[in-house]
Amino acid sequence: MDTVVSGIRPTGYLHLGNYFGALKNFITMQEENNCFFFIADYHSLTTHPKPEDLKENIKNVLIDYLAAGLDPEKAVIYVQSDVPEVCELNLLLSMNVYVGELQRVASFKEKVRRQPNNVNAGLLIYPILMSADILLHHADKVPVGKDQEQHLELTRDFAQRFNNIYGVEFFKLPIAYNFGAELVKIPGLDGTTKMSKSDNPNSAIFLSDSPEIIRKKVMRAVSDSGPTASGMPKSQAVENLFTLLQAVSSAETLQYFNEQYDQCTIRYGDLKKQLAEDLVNFTAPIYDRILSLKTNDDYLRKVLREGQEKARESAKKTVKNVREIVGIVPL
Ligand code: TYM
Repeated sequence: MDTVVSGIRPTGYLHLGNYFGALKNFITMQEENNCFFFIADYHSLTTHPKPEDLKENIKNVLIDYLAAGLDPEKAVIYVQSDVPEVCELNLLLSMNVYVGELQRVASFKEKVRRQPNNVNAGLLIYPILMSADILLHHADKVPVGKDQEQHLELTRDFAQRFNNIYGVEFFKLPIAYNFGAELVKIPGLDGTTKMSKSDNPNSAIFLSDSPEIIRKKVMRAVSDSGPTASGMPKSQAVENLFTLLQAVSSAETLQYFNEQYDQCTIRYGDLKKQLAEDLVNFTAPIYDRILSLKTNDDYLRKVLREGQEKARESAKKTVKNVREIVGIVPL
């Protein structure tokens, strides 16, 4: 039985990128693996959210998780900050991580470009805390999207380094995981290659979007003026629409629109209508469950209480062992 660990930052509602990148695999894997899924609230502090937004978003993400199919009877679902052992592991790991290697991480360089006035130390050590999340439970597999690949490579580096330094076979070397050979990157509706909540909320389809909102967003999606010759490569924006079709529509639908494109007879309006309906069908059961979970605070609290207990049990063992390995032992 493998151990599977994954997390999502509570920066808003979950979108299709989160679903296909991290959640879908997890939902399937929870049946037969030892699964931990958490809400990465410490990580989200790097962008300085308003306290009331953070509180609300933790609840929203929990609701989205449960509505999407995470089952607290099968997987351990918890809030990162409810398991303070992760902070100690973060600190202990940080002693063997070099500032230069953190400065070279793509996501750090990207943040420096985007938020030059808030290059905080939390951003720099982000990959260490993420490694601590994963190593805390000795994960074998980590379901994530393509954008997290480098963080997983670093996790393996840090784990291997720790094992080498102390001459132990303690940490496993976890892999970034998706069912296909490739990690997934779901594109946005605005022509960009990654669906993201922070860049442009209208580019993202949230699991909690109503059917009307989904239809509106999709009909406004960026496309182009259409192919003018057979075999013409697709523009990024149109490629994106096809990638979304591939995610939620049938193989026949995808083939139909590909043929229409190749024959230069495609009408993007028709494609978008079909995509919108397939998205609505796809999210409808999740959307219904979100509405009913919203008013069930007692249940949500119970899920997190039980999740915290189980996650801490696993975390305490790891931290105790790491302390012993590095020489922090009672006199
Ligand atoms: P975050 O919160 O940015 O995203 C959560 C998960 O969703 C995936 N994802 C996508 N996948 C495919 N296409 C997209 N457009 C897309 N957008 C987001 C991300 O790859 C991720 O899997 N650092 C992590 C959170 C984290 C974590 C961890 C994950 C903290 N500790 C330990 C795994 C294990 C993050 O910021 O993800």
